[in-house]
Amino acid sequence: MLADYTRSFGNYIADPDGNKLLDVYAQIASIPLGYNNPALMKAAQSPEMVSAIINRPALGNFPSHDWANILETGILKVAPKGLSQVFTAMAGSDANETAYKAAFMWRRQRDRGGPAVEFTEDEMQSAMNNQAPGASQLSILSFKTAFHGRLFGSLSTTRSKPIHKLDIPAFDWPQATFPQLKYPLEDYAEENAKAEADSLAEVEDLIKNYHVPPCAVVVEPIQSEGGDNHASPEFFRGLRAITKKHGVLLIVDEVQTGVGATGRFWAHDHWGLPTPPDIVTFSKKAQTAGYYFGDPSLRPNRPYRQFNTWMGDPARALLFRAIIDEVQRLGLVERTAEVGDYLYGRLEALAAKYPGEFRNLRGKGMGTFIAFDSPRRDAFLAKAKRFGVNIGGSGQSAVRLRPMLIFEKQHADILLNAFEKIVTTWDQ
Ligand SMILES: Cc1ncc(COP(=O)(O)O)c(C=O)c1O
Repeated sequence: MLADYTRSFGNYIADPDGNKLLDVYAQIASIPLGYNNPALMKAAQSPEMVSAIINRPALGNFPSHDWANILETGILKVAPKGLSQVFTAMAGSDANETAYKAAFMWRRQRDRGGPAVEFTEDEMQSAMNNQAPGASQLSILSFKTAFHGRLFGSLSTTRSKPIHKLDIPAFDWPQATFPQLKYPLEDYAEENAKAEADSLAEVEDLIKNYHVPPCAVVVEPIQSEGGDNHASPEFFRGLRAITKKHGVLLIVDEVQTGVGATGRFWAHDHWGLPTPPDIVTFSKKAQTAGYYFGDPSLRPNRPYRQFNTWMGDPARALLFRAIIDEVQRLGLVERTAEVGDYLYGRLEALAAKYPGEFRNLRGKGMGTFIAFDSPRRDAFLAKAKRFGVNIGGSGQSAVRLRPMLIFEKQHADILLNAFEKIVTTWDQ
């Protein structure tokens, strides 16, 4: 779909023919505050922003004098609990990729005996030949139907669709089954608890026995591209316990779930973890990217170990700061929780009215991060445009809702009205 961004405002995306569609896809879940948001326009025109755009630094070498302040008043202001440091990046895949590299360096440094221990000659020579011991024989464990990006390392942990992976060489890394919950949850409590216990047992087995030992487990709070697959807070607490027990890092990929859409700033805030994840990656609605961490031993022990020219972008960090200010000023996370509850309740009623059309409704209590399966998913998405809605799918059959944080009850009503029209006009 071609869009005309000069005529798109708030929750509505315009096309070049002048059509305006309620946008609950939001550039694949990456627009937080709507099109042409006035507060962001103001931030975009500030002298600070202009300077950041035209004097883009090689951040690893020449950060600006106020870079620490930009981080402290922006990205770090919303750092997940217990994770007070950040490494910035340029996209979700890049955030995961650099997080994985930090995990490998951390693990090898631990094995070697600490940050001060020198690399051996053998390590340095073998690294140049892509061989052990310099190129470590370690892995990142991910889940089936996960999506973590499309660069080489991140793609090896992505398992959502063959088309993303075909022809690309990949690492021999392990994958565990993500629990496949049945809905409505109340009717399948026992079965679902078993699916989660089985998945955790598989994770533990792979950590102990996989021939390329995992040094980290990466998981999405809600598997997004893979079909909006949820698991319970107990499952994630179990994952935290297993990774702790075996000295393996827990990386939570909040690229799609982060920044408010689940009714909490970070989706993992829903879990009640006794200790925080080791690393949390972010991008999309943050409009910038990177990974948060807490343990200082996750910092590379030498310069240029984790490095590239841009290493993020101060202009985008300034934008995220303006987004955070606006989200906090308007209480948009709390509002998203409230609007999400309203939307979910009305969808439940619609599902009861049209049996079979809105299956496996999921995302209760998770803000507007809601999805359902449609028996004619692709036709559903296409037809939505006819009724003025731009909406996306995920996995095999899910219709996924990814409204912006400025989505209100009145927009929910418009959306539900369109849904009803879709399922009552299949033959037209
Ligand atoms: C959970 C998750 N991780 C990583 C990525 C990759 O992000 P990007 O497309 O910005 O590289 C995505 C993108 O959809 C995602 O949903």
